[in-house]
Amino acid sequence: MKKGQVYQGVAGEIRFPNRTVVTTDEGEECIVPNALPGQRVEFRVERVRGTRREGRLLSVVQKSEIETVKEVCPHFGRCGGCLYQSVPYIQQLRIKEYQVRRLLNEVCEDYKWEGIKASPEQYAYRNKMEFSFGNEEKDGPLTLGLHRRGGYYDIVPVTDCRIVDDDFRMILMFTTLYFRTLNVPFYHKLKHEGYLRHLLVRKGLKTGEIMVALVTTSALSVDLSGYVNTLLSMTTEGTIVSILHMINDREADIVESQQTTVLYGQDFITEELFDLRFRITPFSFFQTNTAGAEILYDTVRGYLGTTREKEVYDLYSGTGTIAQVLAPAAKKVIGVEIVEEAVLAARQNAEENGLTNCTFLCGDVLKVIDEIEERPDLIVLDPPREGIHPKTLDKIIQFDVDRICYISCKPTSLQRDLVTLFQAGYILERACAVDMFVGTQNIEVIALLEKQR
Ligand SMILES: C[S@@+](CC[C@H](N)C(=O)[O-])C[C@H]1O[C@@H](n2cnc3c(N)ncnc32)[C@H](O)[C@@H]1O
Repeated sequence: MKKGQVYQGVAGEIRFPNRTVVTTDEGEECIVPNALPGQRVEFRVERVRGTRREGRLLSVVQKSEIETVKEVCPHFGRCGGCLYQSVPYIQQLRIKEYQVRRLLNEVCEDYKWEGIKASPEQYAYRNKMEFSFGNEEKDGPLTLGLHRRGGYYDIVPVTDCRIVDDDFRMILMFTTLYFRTLNVPFYHKLKHEGYLRHLLVRKGLKTGEIMVALVTTSALSVDLSGYVNTLLSMTTEGTIVSILHMINDREADIVESQQTTVLYGQDFITEELFDLRFRITPFSFFQTNTAGAEILYDTVRGYLGTTREKEVYDLYSGTGTIAQVLAPAAKKVIGVEIVEEAVLAARQNAEENGLTNCTFLCGDVLKVIDEIEERPDLIVLDPPREGIHPKTLDKIIQFDVDRICYISCKPTSLQRDLVTLFQAGYILERACAVDMFVGTQNIEVIALLEKQR
């Protein structure tokens, strides 16, 4: 196989997250991201390193037998959001379960696998979206949506996106039309000029409270009162309680703010999990599938077993959801989180939920755990995608607790960290997956580790 050559082949297994093994008619293998098992595809070889080859999917020559879903969203295939929409949900679950088990089995022979738990909702399950301004093709009109699959510049206007509800779609359409009519330019990522960058929308799916945050550069001075009135005039199912304007002049293409102005209402929304209420600020982490989060946290609670009289660390605690779900049945829970506004929200949430045995500390887990006086009996870990820094993991191991519950949104990072935990005397007692991301390639894994004494 040579770089640059085009081949056809049949897609076989798909390794996490989207790395599909395609076998050519000549019997050679190549990893072709985003091909679905059973599809006949055409691809171009992009990298050859020894026996490892990687290609780019050019076209699907023949659909797979597993693609039996007729009504896929019109953006499917172009939009970088979903991968599995054409595959029935039960089959999606099987694929994700296989991927996770494969990774765990590579590093662990003996553990109890408890299966994959489905998302309660298959559609309109997301409570947060980050849309980008741009255009669909060069010099095309202003558009707002998600990045094209494999593309950095082109934006797909996802006006029919199914993983969100009507309110998200309506806000997306009204915003596009409003700024298009006024000829307001988007921020050009290559030239570093322009104004409109992102639109962050959050909605409490249980409370109906909606936040709309417009992220722009400071290049123009645009009167946004007309935009606010447009949003408030829409007939949404939920209620807009927060409209924010954020200024971001940094070059990196991430949603952030150097200066936030409240244009309408407040700077947070509220969402419910079980019988608890949570304030969510723009940059506080909160699981994006509310109903799925209840399954996730309930499973964590079950895995930890009895927590009465136990001191629990909730490391990487976000808005303090896990800590507060555990607190009613624990002696004390200490959360550690690096984003200050998430910590402030977590403290306020705990107070409003009437929980007096939770403490939230702000900072890098690596440093903060040295400063905590109380020693933990149990530890919950829910790190970001890259997993846990080796130095931090070493410190966590030094606590020598009996049980660690590790929640991971990137099973390849979990696999790496498990090896370190095994070397330190922990065994994988049981594990399961929870699907919080229907239609997409993502999956959440919960692993319970026990110290062998
Ligand atoms: C996957 S989220 C988990 C949040 C929370 N446990 C939940 O279920 O909502 C990971 C969190 O870790 C935080 N984080 C990332 N790096 C960190 C670090 N070095 N120290 C402390 N927190 C960190 C992120 O801000 C984010 O809130």
